[in-house]
Amino acid sequence: MKLMWIIALLNCLLFCATQTAGVSIESSPLAGLDGFIQTELEKMVSLTCTHDAASEADSELVWLRNDAVVSLKEGNKKGPSRVCISPVILADKDATFTCRLKSNASDSVSVVLNVTYPPSLTDAEVITVEEEATMVLWCDIDAHPPVSSVSWTLNGTEMDLKAGEFILTNDGLTSRLSTNKVQRSLHEGTYRCTVVSPMYGTQTNVFTVDVTDKTMKFPLWPMVAGIVVVCLTTILAVASRWRKIVKCCK
Ligand SMILES: *[C@@H]1O[C@H](CO)[C@@H](O)[C@H](O)[C@H]1NC(C)=O
Ligand SMILES: *[C@@H]1O[C@H](CO)[C@@H](O)[C@H](O)[C@H]1NC(C)=O
Ligand SMILES: *[C@@H]1O[C@H](CO)[C@@H](O)[C@H](O)[C@H]1NC(C)=O
Repeated sequence: MKLMWIIALLNCLLFCATQTAGVSIESSPLAGLDGFIQTELEKMVSLTCTHDAASEADSELVWLRNDAVVSLKEGNKKGPSRVCISPVILADKDATFTCRLKSNASDSVSVVLNVTYPPSLTDAEVITVEEEATMVLWCDIDAHPPVSSVSWTLNGTEMDLKAGEFILTNDGLTSRLSTNKVQRSLHEGTYRCTVVSPMYGTQTNVFTVDVTDKTMKFPLWPMVAGIVVVCLTTILAVASRWRKIVKCCK
């Protein structure tokens, strides 16, 4: 008998967590006691809402996603009503799903999606940059939970930002390493951006930077000026010629 009670209590802890008086949500995966459902990008979350409405007439259920009504098929309105989030996308991060009775808005229950995802680091990149040009290397560090550290190395040693005239910025989404005037002796080599996620471990982006000689840029403006001069001379020549021709025809 005692064991039965313990099992019932355990069940309740697991399944009744997101239950208020009338409506309740069962979820897969299960929601925590705080109403958060742990999931990841590309995964599936299914939510089932049930109610104990007294009369059949009042038993229609409404689902909201962040206060916007979720449209339900006809047979899915009177409990149990099921919604499926598949696949989970980035926009579902912190999305709140609420189920309530249509007849009584105050009888509602909610769950929130806690979507975790790793930083999306790219494959190894080979970058060719001209001497004296600007160089920018990017590393995506957007992740949930947030990354715990980002570090850059050049040829396997920690970067001397000052000596290399590097500018390192981090806006929480990307870590950006840049320099305004590339010099082969300072900037050629293999760069590594190492991002540590408390949940997904360590990831590294490798950039191989080749510095090439500065090429002469095509001198566009002097050429345009030259063409303009040639055109004007021609027009003037034709114009003065025209006057002569016109005179001659009189
Ligand atoms: C609506 O639901 C709340 C919460 O369950 C309950 O206290 C209240 O009596 C209900 N109101 C009606 C009109 O049924
Ligand atoms: C969301 O999940 C992460 C990873 O498990 C956890 O660290 C974080 O506390 C969770 N957030 C909430 C609000 O539950
Ligand atoms: C990094 O290593 C490469 C290859 O050994 C070398 O050519 C380059 O000069 C080194 N870069 C720096 C900044 O020391």
